[in-house]
Amino acid sequence: MNEQHIFLVGPMGAGKSTIGRHLAAFLNRPFFDIDNEIEARTGADIQWIFDMEGEEGFRVREAKALLELIQNDTSSVIATGGGIVLREDNREALRENGQVIYLSATKEQLYDRTRKDKSRPLLQVDNRREVIDQLVEKRDPLYRGIADLVFPSGSVPPGKLVKSLAQALTEL
Ligand code: S3P
Repeated sequence: MNEQHIFLVGPMGAGKSTIGRHLAAFLNRPFFDIDNEIEARTGADIQWIFDMEGEEGFRVREAKALLELIQNDTSSVIATGGGIVLREDNREALRENGQVIYLSATKEQLYDRTRKDKSRPLLQVDNRREVIDQLVEKRDPLYRGIADLVFPSGSVPPGKLVKSLAQALTEL
């Protein structure tokens, strides 16, 4: 039986990796970022995986990496990719293996934070705002459906945000 983990879910640009890293340091736990884990296991970047295997190939790798990280004996902080909630199996695995924090952000914040993005395949399009709108509308209910805590990532510096986040986790 693995320890319970802390999972950060939410859209691209919500700050899952930055906040996750700070939270892990604050709680003195290991930190993992699923996208980084996929890249390390594949030996290629996310864009390459999308180009060669399509989104479906990436989703298979993502689900596998999630299950492997969950098996880790040490209770960890795990930042997920924005699309992790698309698969029912992943949602169930997240719900059952720890506390799920939904880092929410407004569409405007997401447009702004992904403005110069060059690494997220789904955002390398002419109609980025429209794509973000569609992703948020489809996924927001999925994030909420598994979240133990919904936390606006807002404009507070990560160090400060993490303290209130850690406090909120103890009150769950
Ligand atoms: C994706 C989000 C990305 C990455 C991939 C697909 C998505 O992760 O997994 O580009 O479908 O929203 P981040 O949310 O960490 O950017």
